[in-house]
Amino acid sequence: MDKAMEELRGQCLGCEGCILGKTRTKLVFGDGNPNAKVMLVGEGPGEQEDLQGIPFVGRAGMLLDDMMIDLDRSRVYIANIVKCRPPHNRDPLPEERDACSQWLKKQIEIVDPLIIICLGRIAATSLIDEDFRITRQHGQWFDVDGRRCLAIYHPSALLRDVSKRPETFTDLREIRSEIRRLCPEVYE
Ligand code: URA
Repeated sequence: MDKAMEELRGQCLGCEGCILGKTRTKLVFGDGNPNAKVMLVGEGPGEQEDLQGIPFVGRAGMLLDDMMIDLDRSRVYIANIVKCRPPHNRDPLPEERDACSQWLKKQIEIVDPLIIICLGRIAATSLIDEDFRITRQHGQWFDVDGRRCLAIYHPSALLRDVSKRPETFTDLREIRSEIRRLCPEVYE
């Protein structure tokens, strides 16, 4: 792993910015290639992630891996808005998101991706626009601090509601064509 990212992870291990650090099993800091051109950002660890310390390894993660065919974890970096599991998979509270945002900000600086894909509403409201409406604005590109950002439905939402999947396939095609345009080496 990249030295700067490893150091940051070490600092994050001791974070006491909110109470989630006390109830989690493992820190779920991030996974994948710290030099990736494409970064995926989810919401927060679920049960399996909390046990294994790796993002998106539960049911939602399996679906994400299927959706991201041709874009395996060695070609992207994956992180979450909050690094510790909220009890009973509740949404992370605004103060927990705020307390954790310093870590994601630094991860984004280290990876320095051209493209950020927000997985679900929580990531989109944190990174793109606090009033982001996932039903209306998924699949649209936004420029945020010089990076191309787009949100898709969270894989857990696609597990719950399969009627959202066709729109998500359209969004994934859009992501693929933007990656081919901006950084074709990702697919080489
Ligand atoms: N859902 C998320 O948002 N992140 C994970 O790491 C796992 C499930």
